[in-house]
Amino acid sequence: AKYTMVDKETCIACGACGAVAPEIFDYDEEGLAEVILDNNTGTQQVSDDLEDDLIDAEEGCPTESIKVENEPFQIEIG
Ligand code: F3S
Repeated sequence: AKYTMVDKETCIACGACGAVAPEIFDYDEEGLAEVILDNNTGTQQVSDDLEDDLIDAEEGCPTESIKVENEPFQIEIG
């Protein structure tokens, strides 16, 4: 299982993640990315069929702002 959240402190609103994985990432009013599934808390499991998109987004982010873990995130970032 994968969980993800965006570090908005380092996101530069490049828009790559939402293009690659629109079912996982959307943007706030400032254009910063956030996880749709769980209000960017990293607590909702990404469904298995979206894992490939998630990895593509993680690898494609120029600032490594997309955090991915195998367990729910315990902390809030951004
Ligand atoms: Fe931000 Fe990286 Fe997405 S910079 S908009 S989290 S690809």
